[in-house]
Order: sequence, then C-alpha cells, then structure tokens
Amino acid sequence: MTTVLVLNGPNLNLLGDREPEIYGSATLADVADTCRDTATDLGWELDFRQSNHEGELVEWIQDAGRAQHDGRLVGAVINAGAYSHTSIALHDAIVGAGLRVIELHISNVHAREPFRHHSYLSPVAAGIIVGFGVAGYPLALHGLHSLITDSATQPIEGA
Ligand code: DQA
Repeated sequence: MTTVLVLNGPNLNLLGDREPEIYGSATLADVADTCRDTATDLGWELDFRQSNHEGELVEWIQDAGRAQHDGRLVGAVINAGAYSHTSIALHDAIVGAGLRVIELHISNVHAREPFRHHSYLSPVAAGIIVGFGVAGYPLALHGLHSLITDSATQPIEGA
C-alpha cells in the first residue's frame, strides 16, 4: 500500500490552544485522525508528522522524495507554518527531492499581514489549499488524489 505524507511545521503542535479565533479549536491529534480517515478512504496509509525544526523538515522532505521516486509514497501535504514565508531551504528541498507537494494553510494568509502573502513553497507546489480551516487537510488529500488519478486535473503544458 502506498503512503501519503502530511507534514506540519513550527507551532502547529499548539493547534487548539494557539489563537483559536484564527486556527480553530481542533488539536493536531484531531487533524491527524481526520487525515487518517481520509487517507484510508483514498486507499493510502498516512504518515503524519510535525516539527519545529527547519532542518528536520528538510530531511523528511528529502526522505519523502526518495520514497516517492521508489513508488512507496504518492506525495505530501505540507503546512510549513511560518517557514512557508521564510525558507528557501524548504523550497530547495522540495525541488531537489522532486517531491509532489500540496501546500496548505489553515488560515487565509492573503487576508492577513503582508509578510504572510509570499510563500517560498507556492512556486514549487502542485496545488495550494488556503483558508478552509482544518477542513483544508482532507481537501488537500482529495486534491492530491485527483492530481494523480484524474487526467482532467493534470496541469496543462505551457498554461
Ligand atoms: C499557517 C499560516 C502561517 O502564516 C503561520 O505562520 C502558521 C500557520 C496556517 O496554517 O494558516 O504557523 O501556515
């Protein structure tokens, strides 16, 4: 059975307690449960991780690229938290590893402070889910599934 990786960056371990008016009341464990149910429905195993450390995220992305290359992994949903806005290292890891990524943000980053409007991940993501709350996680998994299986959603060359 193939695996899907869901990767969470800094401060997402605080979900549920952290600014609930922005991020909601669900905990990261709740999100993991939802993702596991969705992954099972889609025929995948779930690998759900969180780290506050940029280098650890880089290493997990590199490992995931190898697993995808070997056919053991379909790709990754990544909420890189604040590193989305700062990390050329995560950008380079995704490109270098050849990892298929759906970028995700719980909040609508474009309706927030200007420093959240730019993401180093967006140009190297296959798709982006923003502003749906934690409901974005199952949406991102479904999006990844249709990118892989449905030719109608394949990016159009040159578009
Ligand atoms: C976030 C948005 C980021 O700007 C912020 O730094 C986060 C969470 C989100 O899921 O909305 O940590 O990625």
